[in-house]
Amino acid sequence: TKRVAILISGSGSNMVALAESMVGDHPARPVLVVSNLPGAGGLGRAEAMGIATAVVDHRRFAGDRAAFEAELARVLEAARPDILCLAGFMRILTPWFTARWAGRALNIHPSLLPKYRGLDTHARALAAGDSEAGCSVHEVTAELDGGPILGQARVPILPGDTPERLAARVLPMEHELYPAVLRRYAAGDRTPVFLP
Ligand code: GAR
Repeated sequence: TKRVAILISGSGSNMVALAESMVGDHPARPVLVVSNLPGAGGLGRAEAMGIATAVVDHRRFAGDRAAFEAELARVLEAARPDILCLAGFMRILTPWFTARWAGRALNIHPSLLPKYRGLDTHARALAAGDSEAGCSVHEVTAELDGGPILGQARVPILPGDTPERLAARVLPMEHELYPAVLRRYAAGDRTPVFLP
C-alpha cells in the first residue's frame, strides 16, 4: 500500500475527497496532512477522519524559504510517504524541494493548464472571454503549475458567471478528478484522466 501525505493551506475540500477515496481496495492510504497555516479548516477535517496532522507555519521562518522547506521536508519525511499530494497548498516550492519529490508529487490547479498558471485563474478565464474552464492535476516540477498533466476536467462558462460562481462549478469537478488521478497514479499508471 502506498503512503500518501497531503499538503493544504485552506478548507481542505480536495484533501477530504482524496482521503475519502482511499478506502477498500484502493492502492493508497493517507498518512499525514500538513498545513502551512495553523488556522486552515482542513486540519480539523483531517483530524475528524483520524488522519495525523502537522503544521509548519511559514511565517515562523521570516522569509527564509529554505528553512521553511527544510522543516516541511523533515516533518513530511518522518511519515515516510510514497506520494505527496498538494491540495490547495498556496506556497511556491523551490527546485530544492520539488527535486526531492520528483516523480512522486501531484498538484491540483483550478484551470485548464497550460492556461492560467498561478493565481486568480477563474477571473482570468472570464476576462479572456473563454467559453470553458476547469481544473488540472499535474506532476509537480520546478516549474510552477508546469509539470506533465495527469488529468483534466472541463466545465462550461455561463452567462453572468463571476469568479465565485465559476469556482463553485469547478470545485466539485476537482473532487472527482483528483481522486481518479491518484487512484491511477498510486497503481503506477500515468495515463491522463479526462472528465467528463
Ligand atoms: C482549489 O480550488 C484548488 O484547485 C486551488 O485552491 C483550492 C483549494 O480548495 N489551488 C490552487 O489555487 C493552487 N495554486 P480546498 O482547500 O477546499 O481543496
